[in-house]
Amino acid sequence: MNKYKNSTVYQIYVKSFCDSNGDGIGDLNGIRSKLKYIKSLGVDYIWVTPFFCSPMVDNGYDVSDYKNVNPMFGSMADCEAMINEAEKLGIGFMFDMVFNHTSSEHEWFKKALEGDKKYMDYYIFRDEVPEWTASFGGSAWEFVPSLNKWYLHLFDPKQPDLNWENPEVREELKNVVRFWKGKGVKGFRFDVLNLISKPESFNLPSGSAHTFCKDGRHVHEFIRELVTDTGIENLITVGEMASTTLENCIKYTNPENHELSMCFSFHHLKVDYKDGNKWALMPADLKKLRNLFKEWQEEMSINGGWNAVFWCNHDQPRIVSRFGDEGKYWKHSAKMLGTFIHMLRGTPYIFQGEEIGMTNAHFKEISDYKDVEAINYFNIMLENGISERDALKVLSERARDNGRTPMQWNAEKNAGFSDGEAWIKIPENYININVEVEEKDEDSILNYYRKLVKLRKDFAVISDGDIKFIDTENEKVIAYRRTLGNEVLTVICNFSSNSEHVKNIAHNGKVLISNYETNHNFEILRPYETVVVKF
Ligand code: GLC
Ligand code: CA
Repeated sequence: MNKYKNSTVYQIYVKSFCDSNGDGIGDLNGIRSKLKYIKSLGVDYIWVTPFFCSPMVDNGYDVSDYKNVNPMFGSMADCEAMINEAEKLGIGFMFDMVFNHTSSEHEWFKKALEGDKKYMDYYIFRDEVPEWTASFGGSAWEFVPSLNKWYLHLFDPKQPDLNWENPEVREELKNVVRFWKGKGVKGFRFDVLNLISKPESFNLPSGSAHTFCKDGRHVHEFIRELVTDTGIENLITVGEMASTTLENCIKYTNPENHELSMCFSFHHLKVDYKDGNKWALMPADLKKLRNLFKEWQEEMSINGGWNAVFWCNHDQPRIVSRFGDEGKYWKHSAKMLGTFIHMLRGTPYIFQGEEIGMTNAHFKEISDYKDVEAINYFNIMLENGISERDALKVLSERARDNGRTPMQWNAEKNAGFSDGEAWIKIPENYININVEVEEKDEDSILNYYRKLVKLRKDFAVISDGDIKFIDTENEKVIAYRRTLGNEVLTVICNFSSNSEHVKNIAHNGKVLISNYETNHNFEILRPYETVVVKF
């Protein structure tokens, strides 16, 4: 049995969570000051995004020293205090291991650039390379004139990919895991873990580098070795799997394979990408959304895999602005979306601010954006003849910065995030959308999320039941059924701002939670209505 079945994880984007010293940048002491708030949500773990030494080209996903704290976020003593205090509250930290690549400022890469053979073999240098594109735009290969070679970077040129085929590299990375485990960390999130095993030969066609590197030939072996050699098999581990397949995710997470406790996949967050292009807008295809969840949830269940389930993280726009309605049905749609995720089979993740219904940033100028990806794609769109106005519109819906604005704690200056000016603009709606307001309202999104987290602890059918999707004969309404022995739970979610007619939903039983207090009718659902019934 996967012991994380009734757990919930809270994700913190450290730079934007809470600033303790007024420099406008969230930090470890800021996190420590909010542990009681996190505890009040009922969650078991905190995944905190990388705060290790880094030139911050990709906000910390470019690590220059894996075993030290970036002074911008605090000290090692602050880190230890944060871990220990959380432990006293019964919360475990999961640290974020960025092992597909390092920063170009890492000492390994610096030595490689000097021509040191040992360290050149830590990375992927080639004389001849295919035409591959990187995730953040541009080529995936960077030429080094002094070496007369190219090196591979699936992301920014300042994020060179590590060579996992080299056993010394694997040992170095295991030591990083051992180091943090020794500090009392209770679990790990592994960044883009399914990209670590590269093709044997690079004599390959042109295309996106990701396509050629995902779920590579040795990926399962490498993960098993990393997990078993460091003794973290019994800790909570989650792998971020880019463009992966269901078959691989079953392997990554079935306990028989001794790999991970769970993994993230992203197919459900591409149903509003026009022709698969993130930078082309389209309304969400709800039929596709439903079919993806049906396939992944049912197959993982049948084959003993385990999902990490989520809508939001630091790479995604805010869900209430995306599949919900941040205007008229802000509260209803935020609760419906939360219910949909938290009643699924898998371990739910809540991203900071999601629990108070934080929205997209509504930035109006390119200078408001801070993310390397947003800035690169803005330029690419302009080069492709898209007007500035349209490019800004795309960013306002797709940029990762939408999920990276500071946590809205109260209606005071800087939303209570910092005494100084924040590193990135704070959305104007913080006056109305903030933790303080939510705490005062019994019917708030925040209090609703607390109930969702508790339901998973109280009912084994939620944490442990099987899952089957129901055909409601209306693509706007997604419904599923969980069963465990005699217990049956029916979860119904209307993804539309209209009343919707549905079929095939049995309606006896007790309502466990809903975003409408009374008058539940199982043939017509109100706008964004959700209801969970147990019999
Ligand atoms: C992951 C991270 C993202 C980062 C990328 C490269 O997708 O979540 O923020 O840019 O990996 O490390
Ligand atoms: Ca700070």
